[in-house]
Amino acid sequence: MCGIVGIVGNQPVSERLVNALRRLEYRGYDSAGVATIEGGALRRRRAEGKLVNLETKLKEEPLPGAIGIAHTRWATHGAPTERNAHPHFTDGVAVVHNGIIENFAEIKDELIATGAEFQTETDTEVVAQLVAKYRRDGMGRWQAMHAMLKRVRGAYALAVLFEDDPSTIMAARNGPPLAIGHGNGEMFLGSDAIALAPFTNEITYLIDGDWAVIGTTGVHIFDIDGNIATRPRQVSMAAAYLVDKGNHRHFMEKEIYEQPEVVAHALGQYVNFIDNRAAPSSNIDFAKMPSLAISACGTAYLAGLIGKYWFERYARLPVEIDVASEFRYREIPLSPQSAALFISQSGETADTLASLRYCKEHGLKIGAVVNTRESTIARESDAVFPILAGPEIGVASTKAFTCQLAVLAALAIGAGRARGTVNEEEEQVLVRSLAEMPRIMGQVLNSIQPKIELLSRELSKCRDVLYLGRGTSFPLAMEGALKLKEISYIHAEGYAAGELKHGPIALIDENMPVIVIAPHDRFFDKTVSNMQEVAARGGRIILITDGRGAAVSKLDTMHTIVLPDVDEIIAPMIFSLPVQLLAYHTAVLLGADVDQPRNLAKSVTVE
Ligand code: M6R
Repeated sequence: MCGIVGIVGNQPVSERLVNALRRLEYRGYDSAGVATIEGGALRRRRAEGKLVNLETKLKEEPLPGAIGIAHTRWATHGAPTERNAHPHFTDGVAVVHNGIIENFAEIKDELIATGAEFQTETDTEVVAQLVAKYRRDGMGRWQAMHAMLKRVRGAYALAVLFEDDPSTIMAARNGPPLAIGHGNGEMFLGSDAIALAPFTNEITYLIDGDWAVIGTTGVHIFDIDGNIATRPRQVSMAAAYLVDKGNHRHFMEKEIYEQPEVVAHALGQYVNFIDNRAAPSSNIDFAKMPSLAISACGTAYLAGLIGKYWFERYARLPVEIDVASEFRYREIPLSPQSAALFISQSGETADTLASLRYCKEHGLKIGAVVNTRESTIARESDAVFPILAGPEIGVASTKAFTCQLAVLAALAIGAGRARGTVNEEEEQVLVRSLAEMPRIMGQVLNSIQPKIELLSRELSKCRDVLYLGRGTSFPLAMEGALKLKEISYIHAEGYAAGELKHGPIALIDENMPVIVIAPHDRFFDKTVSNMQEVAARGGRIILITDGRGAAVSKLDTMHTIVLPDVDEIIAPMIFSLPVQLLAYHTAVLLGADVDQPRNLAKSVTVE
């Protein structure tokens, strides 16, 4: 969840390190720090809060040096203070870390017993303290690094500087990703290739257990037993992506408005619009498998939940789905004849990756629905289904969600054809609907903003909001609630409309807005009955429906957002748009930090 970066350079590095950190700030923004070696001495600057605070500090007190490491933090152990900010220094050793050292308490006790004095409350400091101790015991730098790696347990991407070696950075990976960039007389290190894109597109990814010694002209890589390891050098696509807000106030807004384009791009990969066939080609054969497992976290999980409705309905394929943090511990009986799909924007989410490895151990074929094609989840899968959304910077996932849905819809239709549950005519009807989707998305985005802004004013005054939906609108209701709470900090819950009377109805009063997502589908009449129950108790209903739904619902709503009439398969993507925009505008009105909401990070690489 933290971002780390390093440069072994031939010119000053601190400004470049901070620029690279800016591209990693999506990983955490509780504090930031940079360390360099200059004139034989390790020096650092650290600042609490966003990167801009570190930049200000560096302007006041510049940090010279042609070698350095830097860090942007998402706090796990210890408050987000300057004292706990990385890099951590102990006796000529500087460390930045992403992950969690699980046995830090035990190591810390041991070190304290031998006289060590700890400066911070972090787990990371044990790494610096251990390496420093091994050096004092007489070990060389490489030996001390290797001994430390043998001693620590947990998840880590590490970069280590030694004061007595101003030409080398040591790095290690076990869990969180680490990319080494090859430059011209300089070498780079970063949590992802996007951070390194301004410097180089030639990347070597470390794999779990690897550690590396990086000099100005190259890198030596070793496995955990100290054997020399060879890892491929590849050309990264990351540099191709422009990462700026364009004319938008926030990345989230830009990403919402990009959806017609990116969804069209994604569909183009999975659907043949000439003969209207779903054309997902992969080495996962959906035809005979007894069941499919799906696992993911957060918004990606909710996309998976909608995918479950589609796989079960169109392909008659039973789907076992759970959030990844539960999936891997449930001891689900899994058949090796089945396949498993892992959905992740970043492709690095620790729980999703752990679920993937669990399924792999059980012999399942693994498919990855990912945005980052160079990610660990993609690399460890048998089949990769890229969602082609382009970089998503806003912490709240928007375009990745609708692209995930577009890909899942195409896969479900393709699976239906392979299993003989969708005939050619049905397939063509479904695919024609998908083809219409980008145009309708554009139409909706161009027309609903005034209404959404009006409504957001009401929502911004509320403490709690309930979202309801049935069928695929139920996961969308949960997604609406997740979006609102994560960026506006208004408490929100998403429920299956039919569950209302089993508890949540007790919350209904004139202060509680209830956002009902109800396209005019098979469930519409039932959802209307649930709305009647809300209205009867004085609840304020905001209905998001389509033309047909608005025409037949006779309810007295506080507001009704009317979207175009669309086929059932594309309704979740179309209805996502008002849901995302409502959260966005409400958060903006409340003055919240939309792209970097408190306590969150874009890439969650700790369990
Ligand atoms: O990178 P991933 O798709 O695996 O991330 C999963 C969740 O952390 C992510 O969707 C999170 O819930 C978002 N902040 C939601 O907007």
